[in-house]
Amino acid sequence: MSIDPRHLDHLRSEGDLNISAHRQAWQQEQLDAATRHWLEEDARYFLHQSLSTPCLNVLAGSGGASIQDLQGRKYLDFHGNNVHQAGFGNPEVIAAITRQLHELSFCTRRYTNVPAIQLAKKLTELAPGKLKRVLFAPGGATAVGMALKLARAATGRFKMISMWDSFHGAGLDTISVGGEAIFRGGIGPLLPGCEHVPPPDNRHCPFSCGAACNLKCADYIEYVLEKEGDVAAVIGETVRSTPFIPPKDYWRKVRAACDKHGALLILDEIPHCLGRTGKMFTCEHYDVVPDMLVIGKGLGGGIFPLAALIAREDLNVMADKALGHYTHEKNPVAAAAGLATIEFLERENILEHTRTLGEYTLNRLREMQAEHPLIGDVRGLGLLIGVELVRDHVTRERATDEAEQVMYEALRQGLNFKLTMGSILTLTPALTITREEMDEALAILDRCLRKIGGAGKPA
Ligand SMILES: Cc1ncc(COP(=O)(O)O)c(C=O)c1O
Repeated sequence: MSIDPRHLDHLRSEGDLNISAHRQAWQQEQLDAATRHWLEEDARYFLHQSLSTPCLNVLAGSGGASIQDLQGRKYLDFHGNNVHQAGFGNPEVIAAITRQLHELSFCTRRYTNVPAIQLAKKLTELAPGKLKRVLFAPGGATAVGMALKLARAATGRFKMISMWDSFHGAGLDTISVGGEAIFRGGIGPLLPGCEHVPPPDNRHCPFSCGAACNLKCADYIEYVLEKEGDVAAVIGETVRSTPFIPPKDYWRKVRAACDKHGALLILDEIPHCLGRTGKMFTCEHYDVVPDMLVIGKGLGGGIFPLAALIAREDLNVMADKALGHYTHEKNPVAAAAGLATIEFLERENILEHTRTLGEYTLNRLREMQAEHPLIGDVRGLGLLIGVELVRDHVTRERATDEAEQVMYEALRQGLNFKLTMGSILTLTPALTITREEMDEALAILDRCLRKIGGAGKPA
């Protein structure tokens, strides 16, 4: 079977390309017999899939901003799948979970429980505007699925507008609105009525907007809304994990276009909710309130799979239908984890820490940009940070091989992160990370970039 080169690019982008020589070399050099044994067992019993199995290494522990492998090596985890807002194994979250486990470990359908009610109430207090109704789900994709269903039911329309390159989860409904070839390809027809538009990414803009986004992509959404005439909702990631951060006016324009054409706006903040960007919800950076906000990942304290749909009060319109009828809908233990996580983030002023440390890190990386020819761009919001490596500052040719080398060299030195789009070092540490740990990570990056070097010229 031949591999579609677009898939190859994506696989490479995650640093999980199984045929990668760099990965093989790293594994050859770093892994002992016991780890190899468990990796073989893993590959033997799990269904293989891209970006997952076969795996890179075996983990045995985690805590704070770090993970630890079976051989006892510690890595600062600047990936963490964006679940570590409160750090790994946060003692307060674990204590709340343990207490709850001993009191009520599951909530049978038709009953409710106090932690679930308290978490729903807390989310409506935190969420902006009229976002006053909550439904929990056992994962992000299912929560996005509920949002899509609710948009259809509330508007009586079925069409959706979403972005190319976006990701909203691996379900059949969510890959239909998602825009990544590796998830959409090879499995037959997807949901009807899913119209894709270019994302607000000036680096790969079909409207050739150049150095700065001129919002033609937002105008195009309005154009499609008008031409289609009966779109139920526009769904997008408020900022992409790449990261790509749309300009300030982007979401305001899209919001206005939705209002004009009777479409709902659904914002997917599953990976960045609860503080990653320095605000509880990313839409607060844009002064825009969606009709539905979808959150997840760290909501379960980085321990429980928990996501939520938070919808406008007047979207409470499916009382006689099943919207998200999931077994663990009001799981008291997951809710206790969520409550403890939010309490911790608020009490410890983690959002302010995220903003300050994010700013500090961006400045340090920009200083490094002046010294390292490989760095073509540094961007971020809070502790969602991207360092794009290029071979040439004029053509902006992606330094994919170099990025992979930097990634594996960083692993050798105790820093874990992932690559996106093949050449962007995507840095998402625990929000509890200390300045000292950040300095250690930056020093590792500095050494790795120095070692791998590059043929480009500083900007
Ligand atoms: C933007 C976005 N939406 C949805 C999801 C899906 O969440 P889950 O893996 O919990 O289904 C993810 C997961 O990475 C995501 O990043």
